[in-house]
Amino acid sequence: MNIDQLHDLILQSLEHEMGGVKVYETAVSCAANDDLREEWTKYLDQTRTHVQILQEVCTVFGLDPAMATPSRAIVKGMGAALVDAMKKAAATGNPDAAQIVAAECVVIAETKDHLDWELMGRCAKKLTGEPGTVLRAACKKVEDEEDEHLYHTQGWCRELWIKGLGMKAVLPPPEEVKDVETAIGAARAEKARGKMLKRGTSRKKATARKTARKTTAKRATAKRRK
Ligand SMILES: [Fe+2]
Ligand SMILES: [Fe+2]
Repeated sequence: MNIDQLHDLILQSLEHEMGGVKVYETAVSCAANDDLREEWTKYLDQTRTHVQILQEVCTVFGLDPAMATPSRAIVKGMGAALVDAMKKAAATGNPDAAQIVAAECVVIAETKDHLDWELMGRCAKKLTGEPGTVLRAACKKVEDEEDEHLYHTQGWCRELWIKGLGMKAVLPPPEEVKDVETAIGAARAEKARGKMLKRGTSRKKATARKTARKTTAKRATAKRRK
């Protein structure tokens, strides 16, 4: 394995997560839909944790988390461009349009985020010793969250565009209602949107899923306190 390239990937990924925090802070302020704002607020918290996880990974790999590299500067610039695009869209005074721009920016950011973690996951499987153990644990913790960030926001982006075009949209999107975590699942969810549209089940199912999640979280907290 090309270790220098892996080090570069880790530093790029850290920079991208740091930019991701700013992307989500701006996206949350552009979210007009309450469910979407709630989702992005959750993803913002998770992204802050991803920054911490990668800072720890850097330490184990003997990398200075603040080290400047040429590729890192490019990643930083791309993140800043996304934030700038959202701010410009918000300044036009059309909240629905600004929300769509924000969804597109999140999808762009999450596409790289998803790729970064997939690549680090592939490297982690080949690495031995403490770096391998730490990177595998980091990937195990983060990869499912990255799946959700990308596939669910892709669904939101598509449905918000469909609504904006004056057609019937499935909101929250099928990807969220069906709790999609794979590319195949996302394709299936998109295929099912016609049926969901006819039944009008999207919001009902999403509410039921959210209630179930909250109950599970409450039970877990109660269990921990015992
Ligand atoms: Fe992330
Ligand atoms: Fe992410």
